[in-house]
Amino acid sequence: MQNADTAILDSDIPVLDIDPYAEEVMRDPEPFHHQLREAGPVVFLSKYGVYAVGRYDVTHKVLHDHVHFLSSGGIGLTDIRKPGALRAPSPISEVDPPQHTQVRAALTKVISPVVLRQWKTSFTEEAGRVVDRCLEKGQVDAVTETVQEFVLNAFTGALGVKMPKANFLDLGEMNFNQMGPDNEIYRRSMERVAPILDDYQRAFQRESVIPGGFAEKIFEAEDRGEFAPGTGGVQVRSFLRAGVDTTIAGIGETLKHLAQNPAEWEKLKANPGKVKAAFDEAIRLGSPARVIYRVTSGEVDLEGCRLRDDMKVGCFLGAANRDPQKFPDPDRFSVDRETAGVHVALGTGVHNCIGQNIARLEAECILGELVRRVDRIELTGEPVYRMVNALRTLESLPVRLVAKAA
Ligand code: HEM
Repeated sequence: MQNADTAILDSDIPVLDIDPYAEEVMRDPEPFHHQLREAGPVVFLSKYGVYAVGRYDVTHKVLHDHVHFLSSGGIGLTDIRKPGALRAPSPISEVDPPQHTQVRAALTKVISPVVLRQWKTSFTEEAGRVVDRCLEKGQVDAVTETVQEFVLNAFTGALGVKMPKANFLDLGEMNFNQMGPDNEIYRRSMERVAPILDDYQRAFQRESVIPGGFAEKIFEAEDRGEFAPGTGGVQVRSFLRAGVDTTIAGIGETLKHLAQNPAEWEKLKANPGKVKAAFDEAIRLGSPARVIYRVTSGEVDLEGCRLRDDMKVGCFLGAANRDPQKFPDPDRFSVDRETAGVHVALGTGVHNCIGQNIARLEAECILGELVRRVDRIELTGEPVYRMVNALRTLESLPVRLVAKAA
């Protein structure tokens, strides 16, 4: 990060002194997103000495230009190449082409459509068990008792590593907190995980592999020479870091919108094939990955703004996904809106989310089971968001699930 005064010298880039990691902004990010889009194509966030973009077209441009906007400085706020980095780099999302191209190709094979199809049956069975339990209770917290219960069983089963399920949530939260500033939220999360950090280190080693899952396939690919020797473990870690909390956040957000919009739920009941569209629409509106960063690889012009070398640029995906220039009536949830491949909640460009088909498969299985068996989802309390630096995710969503008549 650079000093605020030097970074904006000789430039007309507007300065915002808002803290995007303040709890009130995380609770209700839309006023900040609006200000970010309105202020200009690029702004300077004075509190952290970084640039930020929130308009759809500019965000898209940055994410597609991996030559001028590097990932190797880290996709979080701090530069992982410099002293004070809060975490170790990801072996896939924090490397640039051509190294990235090779790693990505190897990992793509591990989760090919053929491999994923094999998981559909067990995901559907798991969804059935979760919905059985929820319907028996009627009144549930849809985040903890429905979505977390499903994702923790389904995805961690497919990942295939030995680690207590309860640890996944705290470790996932730690990871997304490490992508933000060294603030109170980050420190609280580090204290919580301190007792389980050794388990975490062990979880992505060969001895923790449960046969049949993605982890085993990653180590097999390493043995075939598709990953550099000794890097299979950190590839497993990248799935563990990126695949659990994001999906919980995305499916939780979908259920929130469906509970708040009964007419949209009716449309799904009439046409269950729309569940994937509902998921994409929900992650457009409540983008789980709030912000991802790049680093400028030299001085670069972006929409008439001259950006300095070696500066972080925050791409606020949630702001871009509600840009009225791109999405008419952007705050409305509509399962008829076809936004898959258009919204940037799953990134775009060479680093676009490699796990998106897994996330969509999970969403399809649990939402499909709910649509099949639930007549109404009634909100019985206010949805509450968790405070996590780089992730927008619900803590709780109290609902009553009313079963369809037998
Ligand atoms: C709703 C669920 C998900 C959301 C919102 C999400 C979001 C994202 C975003 C925004 C990126 C781009 C990062 C960048 O450009 O720097 C990304 C990349 C990535 N995601 Fe996801 N993700 C989800 C699910 C998953 C799952 C289930 C997995 C693993 C199985 C996964 C693994 C990854 C990996 C490894 C990358 C890095 C890809 C690369 O750099 O080439 N994600 N994800």
